[in-house]
Amino acid sequence: MIRKRSSLIFCGAFLFITWNAILVLLLWGRPPQGRDQKEGSEGPPSNVMEDVLRMANAFENELEKQKEILLQIQNHQLLWEPSDKNKPKVTAPHQPVIPILVIACNRVTVKRCLDKLLQHRPSAELHPIIVSQDCGHAETAEMIRSYGNNVTHLKQPDLSDIQVRPEHKKFKGYYKISRHYHWALNQVFKTLGHSSVVIVEDDLEVAPDFFEYFRALLPFLKSDPSLWCVSAWNDNGREGYVDPGKADLLYRTDFFPGLGWMLLREVWEELEPKWPEAFWDDWMRQPEQRRNRACIRPEISRTLTFGRQGVSLGQFFDKYLRYIKLNTEFVPFTKLDLSYLKEETYKENFEKEVYSAPVVKYEDVKQGQLQGPGPFRLQYSSKDSFKLMAKNLGIMDDFKSGVPRSGYRGVVSFMSRGRRIYLAPPPGWTQYDL
Ligand SMILES: *[C@@H]1O[C@H](CO)[C@@H](O)[C@H](O)[C@H]1NC(C)=O
Repeated sequence: MIRKRSSLIFCGAFLFITWNAILVLLLWGRPPQGRDQKEGSEGPPSNVMEDVLRMANAFENELEKQKEILLQIQNHQLLWEPSDKNKPKVTAPHQPVIPILVIACNRVTVKRCLDKLLQHRPSAELHPIIVSQDCGHAETAEMIRSYGNNVTHLKQPDLSDIQVRPEHKKFKGYYKISRHYHWALNQVFKTLGHSSVVIVEDDLEVAPDFFEYFRALLPFLKSDPSLWCVSAWNDNGREGYVDPGKADLLYRTDFFPGLGWMLLREVWEELEPKWPEAFWDDWMRQPEQRRNRACIRPEISRTLTFGRQGVSLGQFFDKYLRYIKLNTEFVPFTKLDLSYLKEETYKENFEKEVYSAPVVKYEDVKQGQLQGPGPFRLQYSSKDSFKLMAKNLGIMDDFKSGVPRSGYRGVVSFMSRGRRIYLAPPPGWTQYDL
């Protein structure tokens, strides 16, 4: 490449200098020549005016030719530049690179995660896959290595034991996960210099439109300070609890869902100095970190968790996570109008939709005795009443820092026997009760 470029520039310069040399010779030689011709053909000696005009014409022609040569040199450079792999000038402004960070430890089943990522990835250049491995597990390392250049394999170097207080001994895994996230995200943003990332864990399988979803939402995340993440996960996304005809539907949520989520460098720079020693996800859900910001999440999950031994998922896996429905239909998100997700528009429409829906009784929802197509509003007045109804209706019943899973302004949206239900606080909601 470098050689080709130098020789091109050299050729251009050579042509340019040669042409100038010819031009100088021509102009030196021309007037007497012209005079000779004139004297020979017309007899009378030429006057000064004619000479000057002829010279001016000659000059004009020479300049025109020089301009052509310069344009040709410029065109050669333009043709040559986009093919330079070190400077992807043409693609950069319109095609942001969003790397995928896979958090791995000691599960060889990371294969399922990587195979699906590689299967659905639209471009290796736009979505480099970075596998960060903690735990030093040889078999898992071998598995990751078998992907060769198709993934970047990073190894968390600090495998030392972590001292925790005695009552936290059983939570040591959470401390190691937190240390690993801290290191891996620093690699992505500081060492590799990326400006965004999508984080997945080694027990997640991604949907066909996983990449399309994040590509479409990146501009929203970048331009809207009331957002701080985009997640592929719906906490209440079990079969029967989502509308299968609404694969394109997206929500804002005050709950940080994790499980396949996009983070920007600016947010990482804000969180990194105070990153916690353990329980990073619940820490992110605290008001000091969240600062009233929302995430975007889909109606139908774009990730599915298949792992069982996951430190953080064990408690919920059997009851909820294993039944989460993975989207199968490709939704062309980058071609859809997603302006309904803008904060003011969304808030207004959401409140209108929820609070204009008729209020129904819990028993009627439970027993499937609702009349009409819906949507319906089911009101809760306290955390306890929320928990009771949620548990009995089969949706997640826990709160983190006062926010119910998948909730937006206290409202949880789900399907029950084919009808949309909004489990909602009374009208006039202002803030979460910590
Ligand atoms: C990388 O991916 C390409 C395309 O899918 C495949 O042909 C190749 O075998 C892969 N390389 C390794 C080392 O897995």
